[in-house]
Amino acid sequence: MDRPVKNLLQHRHKEEDRRKERSHGDAMDEVFDRRTMLAVGRFVTRGLMNEVDFSISTGKVANVFRVTSREGYRALKVYRISNAVFRSLPPYLLHELREEVGSDSFGRMVFAWVRREFMALEDCREAGVPVPAPVDYYRNIFLMEFMGAEGLPYPPLFRCTVEDPRALLDALTKAVRDMTVRAGLVHGDLSPFNVLYYEGKIALIDLGETVARDHPAAKGLLQRDAENFAKYFKRQGVSISPQEMFQRMGGTEL
Ligand SMILES: Nc1ncnc2c1ncn2[C@@H]1O[C@H](COP(=O)(O)OP(=O)(O)O)[C@@H](O)[C@H]1O
Ligand SMILES: [Mg+2]
Repeated sequence: MDRPVKNLLQHRHKEEDRRKERSHGDAMDEVFDRRTMLAVGRFVTRGLMNEVDFSISTGKVANVFRVTSREGYRALKVYRISNAVFRSLPPYLLHELREEVGSDSFGRMVFAWVRREFMALEDCREAGVPVPAPVDYYRNIFLMEFMGAEGLPYPPLFRCTVEDPRALLDALTKAVRDMTVRAGLVHGDLSPFNVLYYEGKIALIDLGETVARDHPAAKGLLQRDAENFAKYFKRQGVSISPQEMFQRMGGTEL
C-alpha cells in the first residue's frame, strides 16, 4: 500500500481505538461546558462552522475536533478552562499571561493564551511557514484550517514511517528557519508530536508556547527544539548534531 495512505490509516486506527476507550458522549460533555458552548454558538451564528464532527485529539490542555463549515472541514481547538491547564505550563508563560491579564483569573489567562496561539499562527502564515491557516478565535476556542486528506487528519510525525528522512530534514529546518528569521518566533514545544506529516509535506502545529525571537527564553527553547529533532533524526538514520540542527533552524540569527 502507498506509504502516505498507510500512515493515514494507521493513525485512524489508533484514533478509533482511543475513541472506543472513551465514549464520544463523555468527551463531549466534559469539554463543552456552558461557556464553551456559548463560544461555539457564536462561531455557528457567524457562519464560520456548522457542526462538530468528531474528536481528533484529547489532551491535558486542549481538545481538537474536526468540524464542518460551508467551506469544508475545519479544525476547532478548545482550551480547557481550569487551573489544571496551568500545571503543565512553563513558568515564563504563566508569568506573562498573568501580567497580560493583570489578575489570577484562569479564564482570562486561557483567553489570552488562545489569542497568543492564534496570533502566532497569523504571523507564521504571513511569513510562509507551513502552519494551519487561522480562521478566528473567541474566548477559549479557535478555528483553523483542517490539515487532512479524505476527511482524515494528517498523522503526527511520531506515528509515521518516513520514506526520505533527508528530504524531511530539509523541509523541517526550512520551516523552522523561516519561523525564526522571517516570522521572528520560536516555537518552544517542537517535537515529532507537534509536526503533522503527509506525502512528504509538513505542518507545524500547537503554537501556544511560542515566544518572540528577542525573548530571553528564545535561544534556550530553540536549542531544546533542535535537540529533540537531532535525536529524532538519529533514530531515522540521519546523523546531525544538535548544534548543526540549531544552526540550520536559524539559531545563529537569534
Ligand atoms: N489544524 C489541524 N488539522 C488537523 N489535525 C489537527 C490540527 N491541529 C491539531 N490537530 C490534531 O490534534 C492534536 C492536538 O493538537 P495540538 O495543537 O498539538 O494540541 P495539544 O496542546 O493538545 O498538544 C494534534 O496532534 C493533531 O493530531
Ligand atoms: Mg501538541
